[in-house]
Amino acid sequence: MKFFIDSADVEEIRKAHAMGCVDGVTTNPSLLAKVGRGLEETIREICSIVDGPISAECVSNEADELIKEGRSLAKIHDNVVVKIPMGVEGMKATKALTAEGIRTNVTLCFSANQALLCAKAGATYVSPFVGRLDDISQDGMELISNILEIYRNYEHFNTQVLVASVRNPVHVLQAARLGADVATLPYNVITQLANHPLTDAGIKKFLADWEKVPKAARPPA
Ligand code: E4P
Repeated sequence: MKFFIDSADVEEIRKAHAMGCVDGVTTNPSLLAKVGRGLEETIREICSIVDGPISAECVSNEADELIKEGRSLAKIHDNVVVKIPMGVEGMKATKALTAEGIRTNVTLCFSANQALLCAKAGATYVSPFVGRLDDISQDGMELISNILEIYRNYEHFNTQVLVASVRNPVHVLQAARLGADVATLPYNVITQLANHPLTDAGIKKFLADWEKVPKAARPPA
């Protein structure tokens, strides 16, 4: 399973990238608002850090406008993937941009039928939002399982399942067990994956015991 980082914060992206686990990046208007920066300058800087798919989101409502916006986002850098909101207009834009060779990521997917449409329209990625479904007492991971089952039934579907709105390491574990193509993770979830209380306790004990090893018996620093 590929890991994308779900962030517009370039410092977070640098730190996660240095860990060797970042295959790509997803952004959205809320993440850009959080860092208070413009889309184009942020996407350019992200592309200079990570050599992988970088999702930049359209904010138009009509297909024609989405297509224009998508073309202009795709010009920022070869690695840009155009993020398009799910819906009738979004599907038209996805079909048109795909026909032009522009990669797309259909966002705000909350049902398997929406994901079915994304595959029919030729989307590169579909982003089902597991956390937001869990928030309303629906099972986000069941949606991932259903989409993967449907996509596996039809070999000609090439759309990749990008698990989004990930809130915790359990989501990551479940996504990987189900065989999702990608999970996009907030930075705090990436660091949570690296940590374990028994690892911390083990390091503490080894360091304490190391102090008991005679200094003369240690290799030179
Ligand atoms: C995905 O591309 C979205 O940017 C993101 O995962 C949304 O997550 P949220 O529900 O935590 O805002």
